[in-house]
Amino acid sequence: MALRPFHRETRSDRRGSGVDAPHDSDAVVPDAPSLHALPTVAPTRIVGGSQAYRRANGQIDALHGVHVYDPVFLRRDADALRAFAAPDQAGPLVVEIGFQLGRFARGYCTLHPEARYLGFEIRRKFVEVADAYLERAGCSNRRLALCDAREALPELVVAGSVQAIYTLFPDPWWKSKHRKRRLIDRDFAALAATVLAPGGVLLVKTDVLGYAAWAAGELAAVRGLEVHWLRDATAGLPPSRRERGCLERGLPTWALRARRLDGVPVEILSEINPFDAADDAALAAAAPPPGDSRWR
Ligand SMILES: C[S@@+](CC[C@H](N)C(=O)[O-])C[C@H]1O[C@@H](n2cnc3c(N)ncnc32)[C@H](O)[C@@H]1O
Repeated sequence: MALRPFHRETRSDRRGSGVDAPHDSDAVVPDAPSLHALPTVAPTRIVGGSQAYRRANGQIDALHGVHVYDPVFLRRDADALRAFAAPDQAGPLVVEIGFQLGRFARGYCTLHPEARYLGFEIRRKFVEVADAYLERAGCSNRRLALCDAREALPELVVAGSVQAIYTLFPDPWWKSKHRKRRLIDRDFAALAATVLAPGGVLLVKTDVLGYAAWAAGELAAVRGLEVHWLRDATAGLPPSRRERGCLERGLPTWALRARRLDGVPVEILSEINPFDAADDAALAAAAPPPGDSRWR
């Protein structure tokens, strides 16, 4: 379809069909085997709905936007994202999990037009709002996927091909009985280590010190990752929405960087997370002391 001058490309234009609704033949076969045989992380019931929940409830409404994708339910969307993320494509592949309104994405895509930014978000509204925001900002190097990154990453991304994974201010899920809902745990860390290129980094930022300490324990339980706390908690990156709020109010934040070690196989060790049984007071005093070698 020929575009009129100044016509903003729409999702329908991109597909060339003029029809945005999914077709039966386009639906992804539920429970199809993973293409890349990467470790998968069991879906949990998370806010926004896990894929299993959406599957069970048939929530496959068309998404509105330009670079928005529903890869778990639409085969063509999964194929398009796989092509975008393929290792033979130019530019470093970076992943953000939980981009929400797209504030970090905008800063990042603007500063790094050469990068391929692949964002994951489980809330439909955020995907659509962020897409419109990023379209207005001219960030054409973005692709936004509505799905649980833990389920989609093994399907869409080739092992060893991601330069950076950004998980910025993930929900802390305070109560210990909700701990299993936390994004960062050792299964996720192993998945991240598998998709990262040698030297690639998983960056975790948070404004909850106890969460940082607990997450550091989980990341350290994966062989193949080298974990540090960053003295500069901005990590030299554009701020996310939550980070901007913290900076404006003078609240502290923390950043962990897990670097993928070259040639070290990924393995989940049986390390006990020292903060698993820690009470709130212990968690609140959990950063390494100044001068500790864990700071970088
Ligand atoms: C606390 S918000 C942080 C938003 C933003 N990163 C910031 O720093 O302002 C966490 C976001 O992650 C999303 N999220 C949580 N688990 C996710 C998952 N497994 N895959 C994709 N997005 C997820 C939530 O919907 C929410 O928008």
